[in-house]
Amino acid sequence: MKILGLETSCDETAAAIVEDGHAVRSSVIASQIEQHAGYGGVIPELAAREHLKAVDPVVSAALAEGGCASTPPVAVAATTVPGLVPSLLVGVSYARGLAAAYGVPFLGMNHFVAHVYGAFLSAPARLAAPATYPLLALVVSGGHTALVLIQRDGTAEIVGRTLDDAAGEAFDKVAKVLGLGYPGGPVIDRLAARGNPKSIRFPRGLTGGGGRRLREADRFNFSFSGLKTALLYHVRDLGAIREADLPDLAAAFQRAVVDVLVLKTFWAAENFHAATIVLCGGVACNRELRRSMTQAGNAAGLPVVAAEPCYCTDNAAMVAGLAYHYLRHGVPGAAEAVSARLPSVVGPLPFAPEFRRPTSEGASGP
Ligand code: KG4
Ligand code: ZN
Repeated sequence: MKILGLETSCDETAAAIVEDGHAVRSSVIASQIEQHAGYGGVIPELAAREHLKAVDPVVSAALAEGGCASTPPVAVAATTVPGLVPSLLVGVSYARGLAAAYGVPFLGMNHFVAHVYGAFLSAPARLAAPATYPLLALVVSGGHTALVLIQRDGTAEIVGRTLDDAAGEAFDKVAKVLGLGYPGGPVIDRLAARGNPKSIRFPRGLTGGGGRRLREADRFNFSFSGLKTALLYHVRDLGAIREADLPDLAAAFQRAVVDVLVLKTFWAAENFHAATIVLCGGVACNRELRRSMTQAGNAAGLPVVAAEPCYCTDNAAMVAGLAYHYLRHGVPGAAEAVSARLPSVVGPLPFAPEFRRPTSEGASGP
């Protein structure tokens, strides 16, 4: 069963053909990074216009490479929530039109859940194994930093989230301050490899450090605004930023972000008795984060499944793969209408091994 997926929630126009939920037949991505680089972040209006230009060629290429040029896919899926509304509308309208023309169902997907699913595109057997659950996923990207706990029956709950910036947003904003361009994550990752992470002691938000008591309600929540401000003050005190200062600044900043992400993930894993930790979203490309998370997993005896870097940043393979499970169970997509907000309840998720389609009158799936 080949499904076409579309992803236009932010600044990547992506389309993919995925067979039976995991065999990626094509995955085409047109990035708008160059268009937004001059602004140090994504401009929503500009993003929507760029999606309009790119969507047709990207989908055509995905269909052709995926072997669907003459035999249409069995369904068309697109990200409906959450994301930049004008951008989402482009992908969703296109996908709906195509589904209608083919006479196949349209399925609206949750981008946040798709990121989690992306970690299992190359490990479908683990996703299907009951022993993998409860699964605790750290979704860490430019738009999100959240911990989601998923049970064997697909029940899912967000148990922690950022109270201000997403981790990727912090990387991007700090890179802007340091004059490193957009997106900041990959540049800081590279620079940090040459720097000393202990050269500057930046704050670790909401960890109970620095004499600030940690409220119980914030144990699994994140905050990166204090770290960003601390770096800003540090740079101001330096006067001018010299090229030679950059590696240490990058390494110390990155270390502070990674420390918090790893610490809180393992606090939550212990608290909720997680059997597996999943690392996904654009920031999961970060080499230091992958290394530290795996090390902590080894020390705790907990397996860590990190999405392959090509499925960490936004792509449509994760969308098409996820859609297969909704279609297979006859459950309507995650959300019909586009929205900027992440719903607080994201489940029940049909990829879980003990998921049962709701049968009671009026139950309409997730
Ligand atoms: O998942 P994604 O492509 O888009 C969203 O859904 O937000 O994530 C993009 C984010 C950007 O903030 C980017 O700076 C960050 O992921 N990122 C990284 C790395 N590669 C991408 N952050 C840290 N280290 C990296 N190597
Ligand atoms: Zn994303």
